[in-house]
Amino acid sequence: MRHAVIMAGGSGTRLWPLSRAERPKQLLDVVAAEDGSAHSLLAEAFSRLQAVLPTEQIWVCTAARYGDQVRAALPELRADRLVLEPVARDTANAVGLAAALVADVDPDAELAVVSADHVIRPVERFADALRTAYDLLAVRPRALVTLGVTPTSPATGFGYVQKGAPTEVDGASEAASFREKPDLATAEQYLASGEYVWNSGMFVWRAQTVLDALADHLPESAAGLGRIVAAPAGQERDAVLAEVFPTLPKISVDYAVLEPAAAEPGRVAVVDLDVDWLDVGSWPALANTLTADDAGNATRGLTVLLDSSGNVVLSEDPEHLVALVGVRDSVVVHTADVTMVCPVSDAERVKALLGAAQERF
Ligand code: GDD
Ligand code: MG
Repeated sequence: MRHAVIMAGGSGTRLWPLSRAERPKQLLDVVAAEDGSAHSLLAEAFSRLQAVLPTEQIWVCTAARYGDQVRAALPELRADRLVLEPVARDTANAVGLAAALVADVDPDAELAVVSADHVIRPVERFADALRTAYDLLAVRPRALVTLGVTPTSPATGFGYVQKGAPTEVDGASEAASFREKPDLATAEQYLASGEYVWNSGMFVWRAQTVLDALADHLPESAAGLGRIVAAPAGQERDAVLAEVFPTLPKISVDYAVLEPAAAEPGRVAVVDLDVDWLDVGSWPALANTLTADDAGNATRGLTVLLDSSGNVVLSEDPEHLVALVGVRDSVVVHTADVTMVCPVSDAERVKALLGAAQERF
């Protein structure tokens, strides 16, 4: 049967101070709806999957500390489809844990893995690409399939997939290589060559296939995950999970599985995802979800700007005005307890800033 799991355990550090350890970006109501209300990226990811799958085949994997917020954001999510990690050990282990639990209830499961931090339009084309990827598994049951997006810049925060020969299925190609987060010079080369697409961070494979790939490339994780699902579901399994999961090597599925697997001919495939796609990972990206004025200022909340351009300005406090005059290309974010200012060009460094800020923020 076809299943899907939303990876929703990231901490979204580059969107600090809006995104916090206790309330990460995927749970913030940042996506504006047509009626003027707002909902979370996670809720949007969930309804996107409902276009392709029955609700009971949709799973969410997140950190235990976000469990209550996820339940509140997704009232339709079935209780036994929520996978809670005791601590975050990055996506290789999150994907592995979800795959092991899905395979435990459905050993032949075909499993899509999707991110919780994307804005994708239109949903119909996403649904088509996902179906194409599932369809490819009918002819290539051992394939690791990624959904690839046409790159528009030499971004260094993404994975790059080199497209190879076409496969039996329309819209799907072999992946000749996979490179996670290359440096700028390499990304520029990839973009100029025209041979590469961005890895959207969304994948389709049989649950058992990704578990086998973990056994090949990250045996320590595979062994730990094996111990977890060997325990009977319920308190016993929870106890093994709490003991074993924190000891697993912290690494993303892109580095741990996709990069090495792509070196095996015919193992990794890529399906074209022809959509408007936005990874809402940083302030300039989030600005794209806001309405901008004629001078390119993206704002939300109580703000006033004079002779200013290219800024991203947010005030979270409805009583607190953020006022700019003569300011260019800056990010200004005001929340109840933090005010953060940086040039747009330094937006990727917010993560480092958070490290320098005191623990309690
Ligand atoms: N459950 C769980 N546990 N989810 C996690 C964890 C974890 O430990 N860490 C991250 N996630 C979730 C995030 O919430 C997000 O939805 C997704 O997994 C991807 O994690 P990111 O941290 O946002 O990854 P990235 O953006 O740096 O890179 C990935 O996505 C890019 C496209 O958006 C990679 O797959 C890149 O290759 C890709 O280009
Ligand atoms: Mg991301």
